[in-house]
Amino acid sequence: MTTHRPTGSEPPASPIPAETTVLNLPDEATINRLAGAFFAALPSGMPGVAALGVAAPSSPAGLPDTFPSALGSVPTGSVPVGSVPTSSVPTSSVPTRSVPTSSVPTRSVPTSSVPTGSAPQSSSAPGAVSAPRSSAPQGAVPPGGPTPDVTVPAWGADVPMSTPSGPPPTSTVRNADIHTDPFLVGLPSLEQVLSPPRDAGPPAVGAPEFYFLERPQAPAAPVNSQFYFLDAVRHRAPDRHPPFDVHAVRNDFPILSERVNGHPLVWFDNAATTQKPRSVIERIAYFYEHENSNIHRAAHELAARSTDAYERARDAVTRFIGASSAQEIVFVRGATEGINLIAQTWGRKHIREGDEILISHLEHHANIVPWQMLCAETGALLKVIPVDDRGQLLMDEYTRLLSDRTKLVSVTQVSNALGTITPVHEIVAQAHRAGAIALIDGAQSVPHTAVDVRSIGADFFVFSGHKLFGPTGIGVVYGNAEVLRDMPPWQGGGNMISDVTLERSLFQPPPGRFEAGTGNIADAVGLGAAIDYVERLGMDNISRYEHGLLEYATPRLAAIPGVRLVGTAADKASVLSFVMDGYEPLEVGKALNEKGIAVRAGHHCAQPILRRLGLEATVRPSFAFYNTCEEIDRMISELERLARAVR
Ligand SMILES: Cc1ncc(COP(=O)(O)O)c(C=O)c1O
Repeated sequence: MTTHRPTGSEPPASPIPAETTVLNLPDEATINRLAGAFFAALPSGMPGVAALGVAAPSSPAGLPDTFPSALGSVPTGSVPVGSVPTSSVPTSSVPTRSVPTSSVPTRSVPTSSVPTGSAPQSSSAPGAVSAPRSSAPQGAVPPGGPTPDVTVPAWGADVPMSTPSGPPPTSTVRNADIHTDPFLVGLPSLEQVLSPPRDAGPPAVGAPEFYFLERPQAPAAPVNSQFYFLDAVRHRAPDRHPPFDVHAVRNDFPILSERVNGHPLVWFDNAATTQKPRSVIERIAYFYEHENSNIHRAAHELAARSTDAYERARDAVTRFIGASSAQEIVFVRGATEGINLIAQTWGRKHIREGDEILISHLEHHANIVPWQMLCAETGALLKVIPVDDRGQLLMDEYTRLLSDRTKLVSVTQVSNALGTITPVHEIVAQAHRAGAIALIDGAQSVPHTAVDVRSIGADFFVFSGHKLFGPTGIGVVYGNAEVLRDMPPWQGGGNMISDVTLERSLFQPPPGRFEAGTGNIADAVGLGAAIDYVERLGMDNISRYEHGLLEYATPRLAAIPGVRLVGTAADKASVLSFVMDGYEPLEVGKALNEKGIAVRAGHHCAQPILRRLGLEATVRPSFAFYNTCEEIDRMISELERLARAVR
């Protein structure tokens, strides 16, 4: 990462500790160096050091010999910043889920102004849509049936964009077809789902145990809120599955202690937005207390701090999604703005009359409307990959739709309305074979699963910070370097230029070219902290735990008389959509709210897919890693009460 600090102004080492959890170090020498630095920094008397047979070298030059007394003892498994020469760990060798210091404020901070425990952690137009009528009942478009071609009228034509013809169908649905798919039976117990595999056994001889992150035999470290993540996930070896302590994780989220209508809050509206861990909240506060400045401009200390913090956040995103370089990461307001940016820059440059853009029937409005607008402007055609009745993409239809006219395929990785996971690797590979560019909407995938844009092969990937436990108003466009370089700017102004005369302007290379004006600096930094947080938990741990929640909730929900699950794909993430006999979705949402349970009830900004399934709205509980089976039980018992009231 580029450091933007003016030379000769290196601040003293920060007294604020942050955590560096290295799960997969590159080689033994580096491990030894890190471990040595760690032990050198341990307060004397820390158990276990001698037993490990690692000589504790003296502190590296320039590093503090002792910790500030306010911090007390350093819990097992924490590595204070300043005690590990992070510069000696090449960025390229830091594994994807290693814990970064990228958004850790490493600047000097007056101790007095940072109270102990509050230091930031580590840091259709209907007339235009010729296929499935938006209000068509379920089955109106049979699987494998006519492919919905979407043509868009000239922009500005007097056609309403998405009003369904006729009265909306009722969302009160009979119980005739309660879901009976085989995947609901033979459910393993949650313990089976969540516990480490039996054959994990002791670590293989010679396998790195990373003892400095945890000593299994050592007494539990004192609980210290500054190191809460270590309490949540006990790292052992990178190939093991650490148990996931959801109760420790919940302590990181202050809002989860709220009471709503006299009940403890149950937040099941994670697909709309997620709650924020304390580390994110404090990181943003820290930014405004110690770093706030505009970036890239002034040669003063705070400009250097804010620029460093902002660029570290970009580095965190780069690492998190497996991009090749930070130059491929553009900060935007969110997934919606990201898709609009792509449509307005790449799209306007490359899309011509007669070209085809391919989306899927699962898309959020954010991945429909910008393409309708572009098609209206250019005379291109929007085509739609159909789904089956379970909400799964019909891949044969996709293959059939691709042609040399296809210029762009833009598909979500996880449906926000149904939870369907789409086969993005295959989608991108086929798009490329057809000569098209591929955009993946990752708004609903990044919170739940590890993403590697290079492995997916996507040319573009977008997501929103607020769905990833970060702040609102910040999001990301990943663009393959080659594709980005070829794109014109979409907004002009400060920051994005390299030189301006009254006659012409020269633009920055990406990503600056696409970040005109003053960006959302503080929230970008907050997003970096959110990424640090989920990486510390481990995306694989998160996926595994959430899968357990989904497996726990699905059969219990399906068994409630009158409930019909909507979206029953074999491969799903964290979303359960349903309707219930005798109730409008909104009524169910309100009844749950009375018990402090927040779910979304409505069309979820994905009207085409709900209408494809014969509905205008559903109730949508969506889970995150801080939810529990007890919370699911609370929802189920309230729904059972509603079901009994109908009979
Ligand atoms: C799949 C998907 N794409 C895009 C978006 C738009 O995200 P934002 O409103 O944060 O821009 C959402 C939001 O729910 C979504 O679920």
